[in-house]
Amino acid sequence: MTEPVYRTIVEPFRIHSVEPLRMTTRAQRREALEVASYNLFKVASADVMIDLLTDSGTGAMSRDQWAALQHGDESYAGSPSFTIFRDAVTALFPFRHVIPTHQGRAAERILFSVVGGPGKVVPNNTHFDTTRANVEYTGAEAVDLVIAEGRDPHSDHPFKGNMDVEALDRLLTERGADVPVVFVTITNNSGGGQPVSLENLHAVRGVCDKHGKLLFLDACRFAENAWFIRSREPGQGDRDVADIVREMAGLADGMTMSAKKDPMGNIGGWLALDDDDIASACRDLLILTEGFPTYGGLAGRDLEALAQGLTEAVQHDYLRYRIRSTEYVGRSLQEIGVPVVSPIGGHAVYIDAREMLPHIDPLEYPGQALAAALYEIGGVRTCEIGTVMFGMQPDGTEKPASMDLVRLAIPRRTYTQSHMDYVIEVAHYVVDEAAELRGFRIVDQPRSLRHFSASFAPLG
Ligand code: F0G
Repeated sequence: MTEPVYRTIVEPFRIHSVEPLRMTTRAQRREALEVASYNLFKVASADVMIDLLTDSGTGAMSRDQWAALQHGDESYAGSPSFTIFRDAVTALFPFRHVIPTHQGRAAERILFSVVGGPGKVVPNNTHFDTTRANVEYTGAEAVDLVIAEGRDPHSDHPFKGNMDVEALDRLLTERGADVPVVFVTITNNSGGGQPVSLENLHAVRGVCDKHGKLLFLDACRFAENAWFIRSREPGQGDRDVADIVREMAGLADGMTMSAKKDPMGNIGGWLALDDDDIASACRDLLILTEGFPTYGGLAGRDLEALAQGLTEAVQHDYLRYRIRSTEYVGRSLQEIGVPVVSPIGGHAVYIDAREMLPHIDPLEYPGQALAAALYEIGGVRTCEIGTVMFGMQPDGTEKPASMDLVRLAIPRRTYTQSHMDYVIEVAHYVVDEAAELRGFRIVDQPRSLRHFSASFAPLG
């Protein structure tokens, strides 16, 4: 019997509870943009039709996660919900210490407060914005060492998130004493949601061993990364994703995690590691700002929902649908002439705004211009990942980021294929108006993480 192969991407779930979407007009959205000083983070979500700002905390929980909430035990200390959570984490990431936090950046702040500081340098394939900010806040330097293909939107390398192992070796040879930890972000969010291969992780481990350095994973999208390994890396195609995840974890000494991504939480995170001394210092800081070590910044019920979410994140039917549906959006955009970073990433599609709007100088923020147009024309909220996000230097000067991208991040299990078909239609209208779009200038901005709160004014 032959197994039919279907083109339709069937969502491996059906809808159990619905949320209304509010339809708006272009005139209403133009006004909302003006009120928000053209910063999409300041637009009320009620004025957004399809929200692709982030895949973080915006996913739909499953029936079993809602049920798990009811099982939560809210004891201040020693809650059984913590044990359930810790066991679910260590089933995939067998580290000795698991420290819950309210979200990923809290884990980052605690870890870098302990191991960072002036004169230190932290390498990563590409730091996410909060990771970079937390490194720099301690006075340390954050260095991105992704392979050259990872900076080229057109390279078809299957693992564009890979670390440049030679560059890492050079850095550790020259400044090894200043490096407290080497980080690898899986998948590489700021570089296009691109995966890191097992082979590369093994090589990074080798360099860390040679120099006696700790290796940590920024593991938010670990399941998507493992699925890419399974589907792209020679010899991995028959493996269980959970098994691949355990191999990745086994190569590392610790991890930071935003549980708002692959673990299917609306809130949550953790720090996990083997080193007793670092763990002890981190727990002290945890108690100072997050809470007792058996709940971190979370309720017992959140811990239970995450434990359940972790089991769902590594299911093959889910991951096959997840990666295919993101690819569907990317391919459809390519077909209408929108330049997107290829291969298509796991959690998001990244449009190359610099290529799509060549008449807008990088210091006039082509990504911001494109994101504003997608919102005004169709109520689709996206996120600039480019010169607005990364252009401000620690010394207060500004320079173009290596790429000007606009990210369409896809919340997990939240939108259907017809929502995505609508997004593609909106993009089509934006293509038609591309030549008329104008850049922006920043009229007001904070000292760090300016993209969240800066105010913009249109140019021309
Ligand atoms: N690391 C990576 C790779 C991330 O993508 C994020 C968050 C964090 C760390 C921080 O985690 O938000 O729980 O504090 N990324 C979200 C995004 C915000 O939209 O990509 P957090």
